[in-house]
Amino acid sequence: MSNPVPSTASKSSDAHNDQMFRLLRQLDIAPNASQRAMAQTIGISLGRLNALLRDATTAGFVKIGDKDSTDKRQRYSYALTTRGAGEKNRLTDQFLTRKFAEYDALYAELTGTTSGFNPLNYRTKLMENNLAPIPELFVSYDSAQKLKAEAGDLVSWDLTPRQICDLELLMNGGFNPLKGFLSEADYNSVVDTMRTTDGALWPMPITLDVNDKFASQLEIGQDIALRDQEGVILATMTVTDRWTPNKAHEAEQVFGADDQAHPAVNYLHNTAGAIYLGGPVTGIQQPVHYDFRAKRNTPNELRAYFRKMGWRKVVAFQTRNPLHRAHQELTFRAAREAQANLLIHPVVGLTKPGDVDHFTRVRCYEAVLDKYPQATTSMSLLNLAMRMAGPREAVWHGLIRKNHGCTHFIVGRDHAGPGQNSAGEDFYGPYDAQDLFREHQAEMGIEMVDFKHMVWVQERAQYEAIDEIKDKDNITILNISGTELRRRLSEGLEIPEWFSFPEVVAELRKTKPPRAQQGFTVFFTGFSGSGKSTIANALMVKLMEMGGRPVTLLDGDIVRKNLSSELGFSKEHRDLNIRRIGYVASEITKNGGIAICAPIAPYATTRRAVREDVEAFGAFVEIHVATSIEECERRDRKGLYKLAREGKIKEFTGISDPYDVPANPELSVETENVDVDNCAHQVLLKLESMGLIAG
Ligand code: PPS
Repeated sequence: MSNPVPSTASKSSDAHNDQMFRLLRQLDIAPNASQRAMAQTIGISLGRLNALLRDATTAGFVKIGDKDSTDKRQRYSYALTTRGAGEKNRLTDQFLTRKFAEYDALYAELTGTTSGFNPLNYRTKLMENNLAPIPELFVSYDSAQKLKAEAGDLVSWDLTPRQICDLELLMNGGFNPLKGFLSEADYNSVVDTMRTTDGALWPMPITLDVNDKFASQLEIGQDIALRDQEGVILATMTVTDRWTPNKAHEAEQVFGADDQAHPAVNYLHNTAGAIYLGGPVTGIQQPVHYDFRAKRNTPNELRAYFRKMGWRKVVAFQTRNPLHRAHQELTFRAAREAQANLLIHPVVGLTKPGDVDHFTRVRCYEAVLDKYPQATTSMSLLNLAMRMAGPREAVWHGLIRKNHGCTHFIVGRDHAGPGQNSAGEDFYGPYDAQDLFREHQAEMGIEMVDFKHMVWVQERAQYEAIDEIKDKDNITILNISGTELRRRLSEGLEIPEWFSFPEVVAELRKTKPPRAQQGFTVFFTGFSGSGKSTIANALMVKLMEMGGRPVTLLDGDIVRKNLSSELGFSKEHRDLNIRRIGYVASEITKNGGIAICAPIAPYATTRRAVREDVEAFGAFVEIHVATSIEECERRDRKGLYKLAREGKIKEFTGISDPYDVPANPELSVETENVDVDNCAHQVLLKLESMGLIAG
């Protein structure tokens, strides 16, 4: 320390801060205690307590029950406010830092040498060894009840599924050292330097994105309630910052390119709100999960489990896929290499669009867990919303695992890779994630075990790391890629035992029956009068004639009558209309039916969003009915083009409103000089070639 003797002024403000910290802590854990008991516990006089309470009330940390009440207990009842809870978290950090410094000074006085730990490192050391509980942002149960009642009157924000995942990990310490959603300065610093403004390594911007309308009603310094999708208040937040981010810059810095082929960049531009809010969070309760409750653990629960089991070294395996034999082999090897216990730590929050759903995956993990020695391996589910940010994501995953008490972390080839960019190239190099992790691992306090690409050697009937095989020319190397596995599942083909476990394959087959038995969506798009509805109708009856799956037609006009009767044709309303169609189609697809949609759907971004919604459950077949605008206008079946030309209908697609021609539809059909039956037949052939209907 540069100045070991604190000045009198800072000494007295330290003393004040210590007392304030103790007061806020006491109000949190025993908000109903009498003043006498409180003063005694803190070790101060009643007079001093009153002075402190006055300070705390003026600063907005504490709320007095009811000054005018005739009930004496009410007059003296105090409760922590949102701001008070945030201040308690800040003072806890300060308090600990000072105590560690005092310890260091004492150590130096006794031994003539310093302990060698600076406060931050010392705390990291403790956490690294799984010894210390990690700080959480929750207030006590009693305070939470009081805050919850108070928060009922606050302006509230309904969290998105991604924000719920982020909030859960903020509150339970999974995102330690963050104390809330990033402020503007921290955001800029994280985006540009992978560090918060106080220098802590943190590669991922954790931001509360909201829409303009919500943001504009807020004032800086205001407390807001954060609710889940059922309206349950999970936390409160004091808004300290509000800004419009430069999303293109964020995409370049964090994801390596402003390319919407990257799922997180696509999310950033098309789903995330335009405005970010930042500020400290006060945790009231964890998000409720009804699924696999017993298998979800907070960082402190895992730390306690490791302590109880005497696990001093724990290697974590992150995954968003079912485990097959190669994964088992590599996790075994990693645990052996690090001489550590193994934690299978799959992500069950949000993963890459199109991944196997987490319900199926967890059943698969359970089947595989039987093959691991029970005494050395455990599994816990992590409610993380992945970003697929490759190298930055690997470092982020490492920090999260360190917070969960792990000492080692497996980083594979192309860790958290998003696939290919719009030019058909990989976003990141195969070992970029390992390189970035290696660069930071000492500071992170968690060690990387690098994942070797494992392949099956037929002659020796075992898995081996490809870079360790010396006799490649004399042996047969077998491997099944993710794409090949999906193909075999969708076509009902054999999946060999050397690749996976029969129990896992059985689970996957249950969720992903062959394509000819799955639900799917056919999505026609094109100008008004292009022939969408007519072809869609013909296709519907042909599919009904074949039988096997229920068919639903969501024609533009039908939807506008039944689902979207209040909507017009502004961009906002068209988007809403198409998103509704997409929602219904995805539900039909999920439940094994066929949805045929036939709206104009003029905007590419909306069509892409619907594709994503549907592809979570089955195939999305986009058919461009490519009748030219001239031909549609010539036909003018409903007389609308004439009215549009006369300006009597505004925002008419193709005349006074844009139409984005689909860049990569599954099929494009010409209707000029081709009869409807033939067009419908072309669609059937396409469905057959995609394996969606049996030949
Ligand atoms: S959208 O853009 O996808 O929401 O449109 P959609 O729901 O398919 O509705 C299009 C039908 O509404 C009639 N109509 C218009 N179309 C385009 N632009 C404007 N301004 C407009 N006003 C009314 C038109 O009959 C469309 O029917 P289809 O079946 O496409 O001919």
